Amino acid sequence: MGQPMAVKSGSENRPEILISGPLRPLFDSGFPDSFLVHRVATETDLGRLSPELRSRIRGLAVTHYTVNAGATALSLLPNLEIVASFGVGYDNIDTEFARAHDIVVTNTPDVLTEEVADVALALLVATLREFIAADHFVRSGQWSNGTYPLSAGSLRDRKVGLVGMGRIGQAVARRLDAARVPVVYHARHEVEGLGYRHYPDLIGMAHAVDTMIVIVPGGAATHHLINPEVLAALGSRGVLINVARGSVVDETALVEALRAKTICAAGLDVFAAEPVVPEALRAMENVVLLPHIGSASVVTRTAMDQLVIDNLKAWFAGNPPLTPVPETPVRTR
Ligand code: NAP
Ligand code: 8YV
Repeated sequence: MGQPMAVKSGSENRPEILISGPLRPLFDSGFPDSFLVHRVATETDLGRLSPELRSRIRGLAVTHYTVNAGATALSLLPNLEIVASFGVGYDNIDTEFARAHDIVVTNTPDVLTEEVADVALALLVATLREFIAADHFVRSGQWSNGTYPLSAGSLRDRKVGLVGMGRIGQAVARRLDAARVPVVYHARHEVEGLGYRHYPDLIGMAHAVDTMIVIVPGGAATHHLINPEVLAALGSRGVLINVARGSVVDETALVEALRAKTICAAGLDVFAAEPVVPEALRAMENVVLLPHIGSASVVTRTAMDQLVIDNLKAWFAGNPPLTPVPETPVRTR
């Protein structure tokens, strides 16, 4: 894509904002005429904008799979004031650079929590009870020849270790409570008053459970947190569910553990190099693979879009942003 397209017109003094990623219905109707909106498809397009236009951009709305808002991309926009990220995870944004350059970063927490927790639990049950293979069994007409084999896996005899006990982790734990499945968790800090056992040591927790659901942020601090040692500790009954970020799991080690059956199965919504999924994983029967759809319903994505818009509107009205990330200062313009 070359020069971005201005999609609104009006007075000259409107804040100019840049939106990346696929067209979203709400973005077309949700900005008042007091904004001038430009679009880019990917971060490569950012560099193709004229320096004059780049210097006019004061707000940026990004999605993690279109723009890696690292220092290189952000430094192309010298007068940027706010990055409104679509998603609760913002590992695609260099918050250190943003903070140092007085740029506020916002994300979309809470509005997607229950949706992603639904997907985590559904992915666990689908993996244990072989829903994808059973669906294929019906569609292919095999049911006429006999019943589907009993699943080796069941939620009934499981103990789940949550890796991450934040907003989404707690929503997953509530669902597991309702299903009467015991829950423990690992995070750097204990959450007061929760009532689930906290393991400060991830390996210790992996030894104590047979199922792990990973729901921590991506980024350097969690890179390959799920490594060969953790997978070995999880053991041969082990099931790994990852709805966090692909970077959190050492994918090569996971493939090896599944192949060698040192763990039993995996359910994955996220991958190291999305949308590329290793052929080895795609060929395995003991995995369920989803295309990063944790929050991907119309109702939840609309709420996320609205929060992106509301953060930008608040900021340019001179108010504090609604949901700034902790790394960047909360201030008014
Ligand atoms: P949150 O409320 O900030 O919770 C994050 C949890 O991770 C906290 O319990 C935190 O506890 C823990 N954590 C952070 N860094 C850690 C580390 N280095 N080691 C161990 N634990 C760590 O975030 P959330 O709203 O639940 O979202 C969590 C993540 O889910 C997002 O950042 C995003 O990457 C992912 N996500 C995926 C989808 C999807 O579509 N698949 C959708 C939404 C979100 P401590 O700080 O005490 O360690
Ligand atoms: C979205 C997510 O799929 O919120 C997150 O961190 O991973 C998901 O909700 C993503 O942000 C949209 O690209």
